[in-house]
Amino acid sequence: MSNYYTTPIYYVNGEAHIGHAYTTFITDMLARYSRLKGEETYFLTGTDEHGQKIEESALKAGKPTQQFADEISALFKNLWDEFEISYDQFIRTTDEAHKKGVQYAFKKMFDKGDIYKGEYEGNYCVSCETFFPESQLIDGEFCPDCGRTTTTVKEESYFFKLSAYEQKLLDFYEATPDFILPKSRRNEVINFVKGGLHDLSVTRTSFSWGVPMPKELNDDKHVMYVWLDALLNYVTALGYGQDEAKMHLWPAQMHVVGKDILRFHAIYWPAFLMSLDLPLPRHIAAHGWWTRDGEKMSKSKGNVVFPKEVSDAYGAENLRYFMMREVPFGQDGDFSQRAFIDRINSDLSNDLGNLLNRIIGMSGKYSDFLVDSVDVEKYHAAELEEMYEILDNVEKFLDEVQTHRFLEELWKVFTIGNRAIEAHAPWTKVKEGKTDEALATVALVANVLAKASVLLHPFMPKTTNTIADTLGFTIDTESYNSLLKEKKLLATFTIKPVGPLFPRVDEPLIPEAPKAMMEAEKPKESKKESKKAEAPKEEAAGLITFDEFFNTTLKVGTIVEAEEVPKSKKLLKLQVDLGEGELRQIVAGIKDYYSAEELLNTQVCVVANLKPAKLMGILSAGMLLAAKDDEGLCLVRPEKPRKAGASIG
Ligand code: MSP
Repeated sequence: MSNYYTTPIYYVNGEAHIGHAYTTFITDMLARYSRLKGEETYFLTGTDEHGQKIEESALKAGKPTQQFADEISALFKNLWDEFEISYDQFIRTTDEAHKKGVQYAFKKMFDKGDIYKGEYEGNYCVSCETFFPESQLIDGEFCPDCGRTTTTVKEESYFFKLSAYEQKLLDFYEATPDFILPKSRRNEVINFVKGGLHDLSVTRTSFSWGVPMPKELNDDKHVMYVWLDALLNYVTALGYGQDEAKMHLWPAQMHVVGKDILRFHAIYWPAFLMSLDLPLPRHIAAHGWWTRDGEKMSKSKGNVVFPKEVSDAYGAENLRYFMMREVPFGQDGDFSQRAFIDRINSDLSNDLGNLLNRIIGMSGKYSDFLVDSVDVEKYHAAELEEMYEILDNVEKFLDEVQTHRFLEELWKVFTIGNRAIEAHAPWTKVKEGKTDEALATVALVANVLAKASVLLHPFMPKTTNTIADTLGFTIDTESYNSLLKEKKLLATFTIKPVGPLFPRVDEPLIPEAPKAMMEAEKPKESKKESKKAEAPKEEAAGLITFDEFFNTTLKVGTIVEAEEVPKSKKLLKLQVDLGEGELRQIVAGIKDYYSAEELLNTQVCVVANLKPAKLMGILSAGMLLAAKDDEGLCLVRPEKPRKAGASIG
């Protein structure tokens, strides 16, 4: 059985940030781990280059679309090369071979009767490249995923009969409980499918930057929907429909994705594959969303964390370690330099680095760096047993991508090493003439470090190679088998001293997020989830602190102007007096419940410190409080008139 791992293919509309790096690090780690075990492994990454979003970004940048895509795709590839990501193939959806494969697949689904021609009318979010039914839109207009304005699209389209796969998908989820990882995300997918699947529009006529239709269909005003095109990369990379030499690698062992694109991978993709009579991937693993200092990262906020900036300052492997150690897989994670520095100083420098330094120092003094495992079992049987208990049980965490649990457990063996040194105090033993015993402790620790380094290798390849070099062995499948599976101890070797591997860090090494963002740097338990985030269990109770409540500025406002927003079904544009001298413009989705006239000169309660946002291109600098139930919406107003700007709370 082979292990084929994939990252999502990245959109070429902007530079990579640490969210993208995280997906790639995890996949790289899994591929390296699989190779370490000696299994046939293939690792695919690449870029997703078609669709309206890319076309528009290129236009904004004033560049021909292909050139724009070439440049950004190269940025991704160079970044992964700098990070020594061990991919076997980097696919681009503008590659000719990929396009041919997509056309082949489309034709096959069409011939099977799974694709038919019809007309589409719907609400499209260009940013998410997704259609949404009216019922899912916020205020009838805004994208439920990203909040941006959707556009109404009416066009001829080919449809994939997704509805025909509803039951087959449900049966499949039922029969394959570990298809979706973490398993906690499974129900979300099942419920979505149970809610009913609409046929999926899989072509567009409103733009041309996409894979053209198969020639046989003679319908060149259509191009393929970007998600159909993109998902198929996982098989076109193996030559699907053309030179199928690599198709034996299919099905994928795991597609690693972010939770935002789980639906595409766990619903659409299996349905497409069923239609093509191809086996389904073994797992879809969905990770959480990264924020910075508790805030969603975005270019406009200027708080994006760029992987290269961080790795130049802190080291690429330290970053890999931090990201995979800090966050339970599937949950959202926060990038804060404080947390990162703590991990470097405590886990890496203290627990691991010092342990290595200690045996380098001791072996230098007591045995001219010679380390011999001959007496380890005699003096340290208990520690060996304790260590194997951990090492024998740690790998199971990687089967479910529980990277943080894996690393947490693995670190316990360093504690065994450190404790053994304290308890056996080799320096006293040497003074007492019991040099054998002292050297056995040094050798025990060398073995602890060697075995742990092999398992840590997929996370920190270079660092662990340096440790292995110091300890006179090489990390490969052979040493994995002998040190971990056969539980052999290291052969006699001479330590090659090395300087500190993890210099301590005292101060943040990159500029902090802009000031406005820093207010959001709150203690962990009070961090607010981003809009898309799913609250971890302990936060689910939804309790906030006193301080957090008062982070929201609520004021009484008087509406002094009100008018309808042209072409909008729900929006009213209001000018509100908040006692600030200038009026505040607020756009509110309340037209179904209030006319502009009746709002004039009435008072409302306003969230006054919301970051301004644009709704249908109109700036809105605040939000009205309203109550909503089955019977509709009503504004929350002060019981008696108050001065404009009176504070609430
Ligand atoms: N092109 C599609 C994927 C098609 S796969 C057939 C896409 N591209 S993306 O560039 O927008 O995102 C790629 C990956 O980066 C996704 O897994 C997404 O979850 C991840 N991340 C992007 N921003 C992120 C964070 N802030 N945090 C964590 N990961 C996030 O979607």
